[in-house]
Amino acid sequence: AEPLRIALAGLGTVGAGVIRLLETNAALIARRAGRPLQIVAISARDRSKNRGVDLSPYAWEDDMVILGERDDVDVVVELVGGSDGPALACARTTIEAGKALVTANKAMIAHHGLELAAKAESAKVALKFEAAVAGGIPVIKGLREGAAANAIERVYGILNGTCNFILSQMEDTGRDFADVLAEAQARGYAEADPTFDVEGIDAAHKLSILAAIAFGARIDFAGVDTAGISRLRAADIEQADSLGYVIRLIGMAEPDHSGAQPCLFQRVQPHLVPFNHPLAHVDGATNAVVAEGNFSGRLLFQGAGAGDGPTASAVVADLIDIARGQLTGGEIGAPFSVPVAELEAMGRAAT
Ligand code: NDP
Ligand code: HSE
Repeated sequence: AEPLRIALAGLGTVGAGVIRLLETNAALIARRAGRPLQIVAISARDRSKNRGVDLSPYAWEDDMVILGERDDVDVVVELVGGSDGPALACARTTIEAGKALVTANKAMIAHHGLELAAKAESAKVALKFEAAVAGGIPVIKGLREGAAANAIERVYGILNGTCNFILSQMEDTGRDFADVLAEAQARGYAEADPTFDVEGIDAAHKLSILAAIAFGARIDFAGVDTAGISRLRAADIEQADSLGYVIRLIGMAEPDHSGAQPCLFQRVQPHLVPFNHPLAHVDGATNAVVAEGNFSGRLLFQGAGAGDGPTASAVVADLIDIARGQLTGGEIGAPFSVPVAELEAMGRAAT
């Protein structure tokens, strides 16, 4: 069978992880996808950097923006980061060239997801971003497909691995905030600018995407009331512990029907979580998402929320979907499940 030909933009923690995963599991992936997944071209900032993987089989492009215009590429995987800049330029060019786009970039989807979805719908190409929310947990697939029959009443959870790693390490070992953050960066969990993690912005990006999927609403990142963990001190954690709680950064979204116009309540903030609540036992860089469906009841999705392997796993799952034929039509007609024209007509309201 013809291979699915892939271009990789970004060869950092996640990009190198995708190369390792595609190499290690090549045979089982080809079997499950019905054809091989083959990287043909790559791009990053520094061509000479050692990334611990052999890049010699792949064509190098200095300018990632043109990856999608190459005749030998079917799909571009954007793993650069940043809501705008080269990542967004690369995404736009790829879709405009009629190629599929896979991304782990929640900042870009939170800010420009609707525009990119409109382009993808009109070009009839896939736009997929499973890795953008909760790392290795297939929560977008879970909500879009597994919970598709339900009206979701509420969605909430731990959406940032770096913050959860910091909080649980401070709790267990009494280590200093800055010291644990440095370890999260060394492990590849943190964003290029870790302010996005510790100020709750990354969790807000993810919550806005999750809420759009769960409630069939348009993405409203600006509407997320956001607070992070940077002002927490060891004394806060000790005090919480003495009262029977742990502190977790929780994102929560639910439709609010109390006013004249239905709207979406979205908030990210540190919460006191009682010891006997399942979220109190989510430690390290783990994420957990709870979705309450009107027929399914409470669904709990839990797993590694950051890091090279888990994130690569979500990226490659999207590639397998595309290799199986989800390039056009079907769900690809609407990357957020609801066609963009309908989302635009509905303002900020949740359905
Ligand atoms: P890294 O910082 O490790 O890698 C970023 C890559 O993009 C590097 O290869 C870098 O090139 C390249 N790059 C950055 N800026 C430019 C530029 N201006 N021009 C060309 N290339 C550029 O990031 P991650 O791999 O950690 O993250 C990638 C994406 O995945 C981000 O959107 C992030 O939010 C998302 N993500 C990350 C997760 C994680 O656990 N790390 C989990 C889920 C999503 P070079 O190496 O040459 O400097
Ligand atoms: N910086 C993010 C986190 C990466 O720590 O959760 C995963 O999206």
